[in-house]
Order: sequence, then C-alpha cells, then structure tokens
Amino acid sequence: MGDIDPAFIQSTEHRANNHKNAVEAVEIPVIDMFGSREELISRIGKACEEWGFFQVTNHGVSSEVSSRAEAVAKKFFEQSTEEKRKVKRDEVNAMGYHDGEHTKNVRDWKEVFDYLVQNSAQVPLIESHEKQELRTITNQWPQHPHDFREALQDYAREVEKLAFKLLELISLSLGLAADKFHGCFKDQLSMVRLNHYPPCPFPDLALGVGRHKDAGALTVLGQDDVGGLQVKRKSDGEWIPVTPTPGAFIINVGDIVQVWSNDKYESVEHRVVVNRERERFSIPFFFFPSHKVMVKPVEELVNEEENPAKYREYNWGHFYAHRNRSDFKKLHVDNIQISHFRILD
Ligand code: OGA
Ligand code: NI
Repeated sequence: MGDIDPAFIQSTEHRANNHKNAVEAVEIPVIDMFGSREELISRIGKACEEWGFFQVTNHGVSSEVSSRAEAVAKKFFEQSTEEKRKVKRDEVNAMGYHDGEHTKNVRDWKEVFDYLVQNSAQVPLIESHEKQELRTITNQWPQHPHDFREALQDYAREVEKLAFKLLELISLSLGLAADKFHGCFKDQLSMVRLNHYPPCPFPDLALGVGRHKDAGALTVLGQDDVGGLQVKRKSDGEWIPVTPTPGAFIINVGDIVQVWSNDKYESVEHRVVVNRERERFSIPFFFFPSHKVMVKPVEELVNEEENPAKYREYNWGHFYAHRNRSDFKKLHVDNIQISHFRILD
C-alpha cells in the first residue's frame, strides 16, 4: 500500500475519527421549494440561523442538465494526469485543473477543475495594492470530453438562477428587499468547481477537504450518493454528516452573508471525509460578487445602540485575490479571514 505523503496528514484533533460511534441520527433541514412563499422564507431563515446549511428539493434545476454535468466531470477525471494537466491551473491562470490543493496548510485528498460562470472576470493584482491594477482571469477548457464545455456552461446557467432565487429568499428572511444584493453580482466572480475524491487508503489520517468556511455569499452544491460532507453543528461543535438526498442541492451561507447579516446567519465550518472503497464527485457553485464590492453589515440591520456593526468593510476582490494565492503554496501564515475585519468590542 505504501506510505502516505506527510503533506496529507491532519493533526490528531482534526482527523475524521471514523471509529467513533455515530452521533444520533440528525439531519440538516431539507426544504421543499415548492409551496407557500411565506413558509419557505421562514424555513430558510430558521435553517440559516440554526445551521448555516440546508438541502433544497424542487429547486427548478433540470435533472438532465445536472446528469450531463456529472457525466462529463467523471469522464474528464478518468483521463491521464498528463492529459488533465494540459489545462492546469497556475499562478497566472486561476481556472482549470488542480491536484495539489491545501486547506489550512494540509493537502486535500482530491483533484478539482474550476471554471468561471462568466467566461472571464477581473480581479485585483495583489502585488499592486496601491495602484488598484486589475488582471483578467479566463477559463481554460480541455479538448476532451468534447461536450465538456457546453454541459458545464448549461449547468452554471441553471444553478445561477437557483442561487439568485435563494439569495432573494434569504434577503426577505432578513426583512430586506428581495433584490437588495442583486447589484453586487453584476460582473460576478462566481465559479463552479468539479471535485473528485479518489478512494483513500488512509481515511483516518487524511481528509477530502479539511475543515473550512466558504468565503463567498452562498454555495450551492450538488453531490453523488457516496456521502462524506460533514457540517459542524453550531450548538455543540459535533461533526454532523450530510446524508445525500437524490436530486437535492446542499446550500450553505458563506462569509459574505455572515458579514451582511452582522452575524445573524453565520458561515459554518464543514469538511469532507474520504473512504477506502468508493470515489466521490461533488459540484459546488460558489456565488461570488464582483471584485468591486465592498462587504459590510447592511445598514438596515445594524443600529448604534442595540446591534452595532461587527465588521469594518472590506473589498471582495482583494480578499479573493489573497485567498487564491495561498492555495498554491504551503504557507506558514494564516490565510486572510473575515475575522481580520471584525470590530473588537
Ligand atoms: C468545498 C466543499 C464539499 C463537498 O469545495 O468548498 O466544501 O462535499 N466541498 O465536496
Ligand atoms: Ni466548502
């Protein structure tokens, strides 16, 4: 079997602990989007507050479009490493194939392919913070499978509609106008990631993705029937597995919604455990605003006396550019975090 590359090994307290008795059968909320709008808004608001995570069914994304995306993802990853590395992501090209990602400086047991929802986008150049220079990132598409690009662009378009719908429902649940945040997503930086988690001979030592929070506004994740995603329960810090529900999407609130809502809806830690037997595929859509957006608690939701703003404003493009850089190297410093913008009380 050979030895595991030490880069993959999680420190003891972060390992999957697969032998522990499972916590009692508990599930993140599953919300049917068909039905009364009032009830939907209230259920989504409650799920965001209690869990930061929920699943949705009857979401309007065609199962045919999802199946095609899953099929081309599988075909892409089946190819040789040499073939996949033809579209390798690097410091210049942030989109494409990548098999060396680290989360919190430990290597993840996975390979990914990333693409922007809008074929190219602008982000700040971190080296020139003062001069406000921008660089353009553009998608890289492989030659094989031949229908890869078309299937994945169709998928992104459909899931984007769902993301906007969910954002409206979340805004309404906060007592804000449905279209409160729409303007932020003009020239959005949203991207879709194809995740492939191969079977892992060391599931007790490595993780598919180490514990992390998603930095964007929302994540809309499609997954197969293998399972492995775990969510850190807010009430006691237990890792709760998300049981795959056929045809459902898993939704989670990211750091941006946490800041907009001034901590009412927190971005919750999650991770992916791997197993010895079965490979797993998942497809998150990361709903990211434009690089120009300044993120800060929404004025209607804060007031000087009872609920003062908990964050200073920060620029999304700058945050994004810093995050992306640290994916490539095992840095010995902490990544940029929203906590850096927290106002201490
Ligand atoms: C992620 C993530 C979960 C999964 O890519 O940010 O949390 O189930 N993925 O693949
Ligand atoms: Ni995540």
